[in-house]
Amino acid sequence: MSTPSTPEPPVLVVGATGTLGGQVVDALLARGKNVRALVRPASDANKLQSKGVEIARGDMLDLNSLVAAMEGVDAVITTAAGYTRGDKKAREIDTTGNANLAEAAHRADVRRFVLTSILTSDRTPDVTHFWDKKLAEDKLEQLGVPFVALRPGAFLDQVATMAGNPLDKGRIMWMGKTATPLTFVLTSDLAQYLAAAVDADVKDVERIDIGWDRPVTVREVTDKITQQAGKPVNVRSIPPAVTRAAGAVVGAFVPMVKDMAAMFRWFDTGRYVADTTRQAQLFGPVPTAEDAIARLTSELSAPPRP
Ligand SMILES: NC(=O)c1ccc[n+]([C@@H]2O[C@H](COP(=O)([O-])OP(=O)(O)OC[C@H]3O[C@@H](n4cnc5c(N)ncnc54)[C@H](OP(=O)(O)O)[C@@H]3O)[C@@H](O)[C@H]2O)c1
Repeated sequence: MSTPSTPEPPVLVVGATGTLGGQVVDALLARGKNVRALVRPASDANKLQSKGVEIARGDMLDLNSLVAAMEGVDAVITTAAGYTRGDKKAREIDTTGNANLAEAAHRADVRRFVLTSILTSDRTPDVTHFWDKKLAEDKLEQLGVPFVALRPGAFLDQVATMAGNPLDKGRIMWMGKTATPLTFVLTSDLAQYLAAAVDADVKDVERIDIGWDRPVTVREVTDKITQQAGKPVNVRSIPPAVTRAAGAVVGAFVPMVKDMAAMFRWFDTGRYVADTTRQAQLFGPVPTAEDAIARLTSELSAPPRP
């Protein structure tokens, strides 16, 4: 008679209701992992539940709820952020909330914590939401939590569709220089790397850049989409001087605007560029810019899912 096997301890995903977080959940399930998701009390967990994900209700601003959610987990992956949704408490979520996650992981003695960080976050104190990721990495290190921080470039699929499908609109909106190369990623690739990072052969503290084989300019992105889709797509760029002025004037009252203006100013320096050596060692051949843009173009060309 066979004895019933004990289920594998789950991986807790924080941010599972988000765009990236949802794809991380799918990647973990495809790897045969048991998944638990931390979901805020008022957020819809039905889609996750229908996939067999265990739901732990909680909030990054409630330390006790995090400690409870991490009980018995093997690892934690967080993709959560306050600034991405313009949450009223965005800054608190990105500072106190991330510190709470680190504290809870420390108390629960999790084997590995996988943080979605941001490329160059340790070099950009003026870009608040970048710097908050550096602080989150530092907190994990101070508390001795074994962690891997993946530091991706800008999500091209999200950037390209900010103002609608560029194949319908004929344009991509941009707020910086269109001829400065920078590192992009696709959300779907990053989701695979985050899931793989749970069992990757890494040291107890690692910060890993994530990108393509080379940085590209926004102009090159639209040229390639145009060629591949056979439809003209242009860049509609807000001149950097206007972005800077908005950052100075509106940013004095709206922190998010100041933060965005500082981010584009950083992009314009040409230093938002990944070193993908470690990415290649851990996750295999780094996507080429050509292949990634071609995959994005075919996603944009596909009819919307019902
Ligand atoms: N976009 C880029 O170019 C870029 C570049 C580099 C790195 N990143 C990073 O990639 C990630 C983007 O993820 P995404 O696209 O999935 O973002 P998203 O769609 O905005 O999702 C944010 C997630 O965070 C959760 N969350 C927010 N506050 C929370 C709280 N207090 N407690 C618990 N959960 C909370 C949200 O839950 P609710 O459903 O309850 O709101 C949601 O699941 C972020 O970490 C971002 O910093 C983005």
